[in-house]
This record gives sequence, structure tokens and C-alpha cells, in this order.
Amino acid sequence: MTAESRILELRTELDQHNYRYYVLDEPSVPDAEYDRLFNELKALEAEHPDLVTADSPTQRVGGSALSAFSQVRHEVPMLSLGNAFEESDLHEFDRRVVEGLDLPAGDLFGDGAAVDYSCEPKLDGLAVSLLYRDGQLVQGATRGDGATGEDISVNVRTVRNIPLKLQGEGWPAVLEVRGEVYMSKAGFERLNQTQIETGGKTFANPRNAAAGSLRQLDSKITASRPLEFCCYGVGQVSAPIADTHIDTLEQLKAWGMPISRELRHAAGVAECLAYYRDIGARRNDLPYEIDGVVFKVNSLASQRELGFRAREPRWAIAHKFPAMEELTRVLDVEFQVGRTGAVTPVARLKPVKVAGVTVSNATLHNMDEVARLGLMIGDTVIIRRAGDVIPQVMQVVSERRPEDARPVHIPTQCPVCGSQVERTQLVKRSKGKETVSEGAVYRCVGRLACAAQLKQAIIHYVSRRAMDIDGLGEKSVEQLVDEGLIRSPADLYQLTFEQIVDLEGFAELSSKNLLAAIEASKNPGLARFIYALGIPDVGEETAKVLARSLGSLQRVMAALPQVLTYLPDIGLEVAHEIHSFFEDEHNRTVIAQLLERGLQLQDEGELGAEFAASTTLAGLIAKLDIPSVGPTGAQKLVAKLDSLEKIIAADGIDLRQALAAKPAEAVRAFFQVPANVALALAIEAQLRDFGMHWSSEKKIAAGLPLAGQTWVLTGSLERMSRDVAKDKLESLGAKVAGSVSAKTHCVVAGPGAGSKLAKASELGLKVLDEEAFVGFLAGHGIAV
Ligand code: IVH
Repeated sequence: MTAESRILELRTELDQHNYRYYVLDEPSVPDAEYDRLFNELKALEAEHPDLVTADSPTQRVGGSALSAFSQVRHEVPMLSLGNAFEESDLHEFDRRVVEGLDLPAGDLFGDGAAVDYSCEPKLDGLAVSLLYRDGQLVQGATRGDGATGEDISVNVRTVRNIPLKLQGEGWPAVLEVRGEVYMSKAGFERLNQTQIETGGKTFANPRNAAAGSLRQLDSKITASRPLEFCCYGVGQVSAPIADTHIDTLEQLKAWGMPISRELRHAAGVAECLAYYRDIGARRNDLPYEIDGVVFKVNSLASQRELGFRAREPRWAIAHKFPAMEELTRVLDVEFQVGRTGAVTPVARLKPVKVAGVTVSNATLHNMDEVARLGLMIGDTVIIRRAGDVIPQVMQVVSERRPEDARPVHIPTQCPVCGSQVERTQLVKRSKGKETVSEGAVYRCVGRLACAAQLKQAIIHYVSRRAMDIDGLGEKSVEQLVDEGLIRSPADLYQLTFEQIVDLEGFAELSSKNLLAAIEASKNPGLARFIYALGIPDVGEETAKVLARSLGSLQRVMAALPQVLTYLPDIGLEVAHEIHSFFEDEHNRTVIAQLLERGLQLQDEGELGAEFAASTTLAGLIAKLDIPSVGPTGAQKLVAKLDSLEKIIAADGIDLRQALAAKPAEAVRAFFQVPANVALALAIEAQLRDFGMHWSSEKKIAAGLPLAGQTWVLTGSLERMSRDVAKDKLESLGAKVAGSVSAKTHCVVAGPGAGSKLAKASELGLKVLDEEAFVGFLAGHGIAV
């Protein structure tokens, strides 16, 4: 036998042993025998270096150290999971799934549809993506911010149970496997022991140890660490693998991928809870740390139907285990004022160690939470600290309440600026009705006049992920505010060298650098700018959604709350926050000043294609929350009645052609309420204003006389309003645009027309005055 064929034989045999050992947990040979084969292969490869391949089992030793990780863009974003802490959260999740899939809901006599879920432990490590091309491992990446991660290809190759090539056959040419890299409890103990012996740094917990080991620029260090991988899903795939999540994992397992031994089916939420309890009871005996279990809707078609909300899938949830808890006393409750003015109660605690960390403060979130806890100053409480989550007050031990316990009162005036503190309003929409109730949050109305809010707003505005103005730390912001040098983010752009050079910590160079950084921040992308504004509840993700969907600051500022809820990831409450932020005079002034002072947004443009495609008429109907009309019902309705006007005007008989008796009646009843009609029309009007057309109308438009033509209206019209003129053109199939280009078919110019008319003449376009336009309409049978 040649060296080459022996090498191939040994590799195949070692791969088989690895597979049986790591994936099937059924070792087939004693370790000594494995080592003998492995050493034989190593020796042969040493003799024939030209026969060494990247996927040989000997190639898990790491390579030369890197100076930095390069970035990897995730084709399919790596998302996080929503959490359930209580059983009720899980029921709520299940209810949303059942509703989202339009399954029969539960009633007094039963739980309704039992959704088929998969159950897996939630390993406490770090998420990793592994890319296989033609069965070969070609790339490993961390999750990073979900969109971009770090290239840790060399490191993942050192993880023993990650296959360097796939077994069997039939895998898609491109297969991205996702899972958790973690460290077993035993591996962690061993590592820390070694670290102590060698004078190295010890790790606080297995999770930190896993993260610290995998993200090593020197992959030889990674290779020496007891890391393991467990696959829980796929990312990008060039061909479908299976119809369900569990079948996908089973198929991956057949291809050599380690999956959890605890993977199970559950029919409905009751079985999920049984799984949760079972794993919870065995938690301490498992060889690895878990912080909960993950439930996923098993059918991939249903997963697609449910989709995502911001960074979380609607089809999966992590059910967390209770974390370490301790008892301590509440010495006082103080109030902090945050960036958005929220006045938050904070418990000052008798210091206590929870999971190795001393805790002396805990946020109480809001006054509803204080009320829910029934908390009084002087109470003994249960504090919980879960992983890296901030300490929480879980419960009051009422038996231990001292006689001199004092109630907690929200101050009527802001502790920082003395302005009024007001309770926020909460807007909810259910069964087509909008209700406003008291919110849990109290806010100082001082806005940027409140030093606390101004400081936080500026700190947020300049932060790395916002406007990224380097050289302004929290201390400097405080000074600038306290010295009265800035009263709003717009004032940053008027700072002068003389003003800052004498401030504490500002030498000549740092002053110059700061001014340069401020100057350099003047061309932000739209999403970054929206995020930087610090709108309550608008994080980076939401800011991106707004920018991508609406395309311009002007549209974002004008958008009605109802239209905002039309965006895939924005609920009514957030929509109202956004809307009222932009309605606020002061905020509008600051934005105007920012633009005056040289800010120029970079990537403004058209409506996002994704948004444009998602704003179907069926989507609008589904958003209206008509009882018993979900997304499927809305689609059926629109298939028969293809415009909002028709749906509004439809009688019971028309509706019955599309829907069953109950939803048909619900639609009819809904549109008998004038406010509901007005709401639906307002949404539609704004969407049109933004340049949207229902896709069904596009098809109809194709047969109309002006189909495919773009018209522009300019100047004032006397015999009709511009809106009416626009409607009439659209009824003939034309698109009405706001600006003139070579693609414009015709311009209607009334008195006072300016640059658009000039441009039309320059381009030699057809121009109609009002009289000619009225004549033109008449020619198409439209009277004015
Ligand atoms: S599924 C879109 N399954 O938990 C679904 N995640 O908060 C994405 N994790 O970053 C994750 N065990 O690192 C999933 N069985 C499991 C998991 C799991 C641990 C981690 C994962 C992710 C985080 C989600």
C-alpha cells in the first residue's frame, strides 16, 4: 500500500472514530488505539508534507498568530432570542405563535392548537457561524453585532468536535451551520487549575472562559483550550435541507455535526413546560452550564410565516432559569433622570454578594414595578443577578418588614432641574380600537433644559455607534453642559477652540482633535443620525428600519404613527414615541439647527424596496386588528376586493364571497365605525404620499392609458387642487412624481411654476398648462 492510500485510510478511520465519539457519543475504540492511529498519520504526514491537507484530523493545532481579526458579513443576520422568565411569558409567546399562524385559539375548555415545538438547552457560551463549501469547512465567524462578526476560521478549526469536512453526501454546496461554542464545567475547572499553576489569569465562569479562548489572535492558545461546539441551526444554505427544525438538525448530525443530546419534540406549551422543568431539575448534573432552554416552532414553513421582530425571531424563545438569588435590605430609594427624561427609582441596598459580585444598587425600573413589588424603604428583598444582567429586586420578604418602613413616592419635581415630573401615556390598539392609558414611566418635562437629560443626550449623541465623535468623554460633556457651553447637540457644531482649550483635561491638541472629530461627524448616514437623536425606544435596529424603509428624514419626521406601525418592526407604542418626538417644537428646532450648522445626511433616497413590497393592501387590512381577521384572512379579502375603497364600501354579501361568516361580519362592523374608516384612509393617504401603490393596483394600472408614464405637477392649479389632479392622473395609470427628470413623460405647470418648469423646457419635455390639462382629462372621459 502506498503512503498516500494509507494516509487516506487513516483519515477516514479517524474521522469515523471522531464522529462516533463526539457526535454519537458511542466511542468505538479505546483512547490508546485512537492515539496509535493518530500518531501513525502524523508520522506519515511528516514524511510526506505534500500530502498534508487542511481537512486532515492532524490539522487542529492552530496557526501563526494574527494581528487582528478581519470582519465577516453574515449573509443571513445572526439574531438573538426573546426571553421568557415566567410560565405566563411562555403562554404569551405561544398565544402569539397561534395567532400569527392563524390557528384555532384556546377557549375555556382547552388550549387550542398544540403547536409542534422543538426543545433544546440554551448553552451558555458564544454563538458561532461555520461555513462549509462543498462539504469543507472554509470559514468560522463570531456573531459580532449580528450583521458583521470576526473571522475566527483558524480558531474554530482547533475545536475538536467541529468537523473539518462533512460526512456522507447530499449536503448543499453552501451550508452555514450555526451553534454555540462553549466550555464544559470540567473543562473550565481544569483550565482554571492550569491557569493558577502557570500563573495565568483565571476565568469567572465557563462562558467567559469560552469567549476568551475562542477570540484568541494566537490560535495555538485556542487549540490548547477545552472548547466544544453544539449546533442549533443553519444560516445561509444553497438548497433546502428539511421541512422542520428537528429534521434539519438530525440531517446535520448525519453529516457529522454535533447536536444536543437533549433535543426533543413538544406538542404545545404544556410539553414545553414539562421539558423546562425536567432540564431544570437536572441542570446541576449536566456537564455544561445552561441558562435556560430554547423553544422553536418546528415547522420551517411556519417559522417563515411568523418572521422576525427587530433582532428576534417570532418563532423562538429562550425560557430562562432563575439565577442566583440573595437577601438584603433596601436602605433608600433614589431617583435617577435618564436620557429621555425617564425618572427611574433605584434601590440603594445593604451591599451583598450575588454570584461573586457585590451588589449595592438595583434599578426598580419604574413606579409600577415598585407597586408590583409592594416595596417600602427598609424592606428586606430578594436580589437576583443572572449572568451579566444587572441586579434585579425580585421580591419583598413581607414578614421582615420593619415598623419604620416608609413608602416610596415619585417626586413631583425633577431631582435635577426642578421641572415638573409627568406620567407618560400608553397607546394600545386591540380589536381595532385605540386606547390610551397611564404608562409606567414618569418623565421630567425639562427635556434639554434638564442638565441630566442634556448630558445623557449629548453622551448618547456623540457615542461610537451614534455620531461617533471621539474625544468627548462623559466628564467633558458634564463640563461643557455645566459651563453653559452647550444647550443642545446642535451647539456642539458651534464650539470654538477658545471655549474648550481652558477646560479641565483639554490641552491644545485634544481641543483640536475634538473640533476635528465634530467636523468629521457632519455627514452621517440616515440611520446613524436617527439613532443619535435619542428618540425614546428607538435603538439602532429601529433606527435602521426607519431609515431603510422610509428613506428620508423628511418622511421619517412626517410619518403617522399608524404608518410607522406598518413597518415590519415597529409597534404602536414605539410609533407614538417616534411621532411625538418629531412633533415636538423643541426637537424640530434642534434638528433644523443641526442641518443649518452643516449636517448633511448621506444615504437619503427612495422608499426601501422591502418596505414598498411589504406595504400591500392585505398588510394594511391585517394591521387594522379587525377581530378574527389575521394575515391569511386579509389576503383572502384582498383577493376579491382589490382596493380599500371597495372593502370599505362592501356589504355583507360581497364580503361573504371572500371570507367566512364571522370575519366577514367583523369587517363590515369595523368599517361602520367612522373613526376606523378615517384611520384606514389616513394610512393609505400617507403611503400614497410617500409614493406607494398597492401592488394589485399596479397590475390594474398596466391596462390603463397612462400606464408606465411619470407625470409631474408644478405651480398652482386653479380649477382643482394638486391632490385631486394627482388622483385623476393616477386613475389613468400614471405615476405622479415630485421631481422632473429625463424619464418624466409630461409636466403640468400652473401659474408660479419655477425650477421644475425650467428643467422641463431644458429637457424638451411635454408641458401642459391647466387649460390643456383639463382638456386632456376630458379627452379621457374625466370631467373636472
Ligand atoms: S437559536 C434566531 N438555540 O442564545 C435564533 N440559540 O439569545 C438564534 N443559544 O446568540 C439562536 N443555545 O448564542 C439558539 N439552542 C439554542 C441556543 C442558542 C444557546 C444562544 C445563541 C444566541 C443566544 C440567543
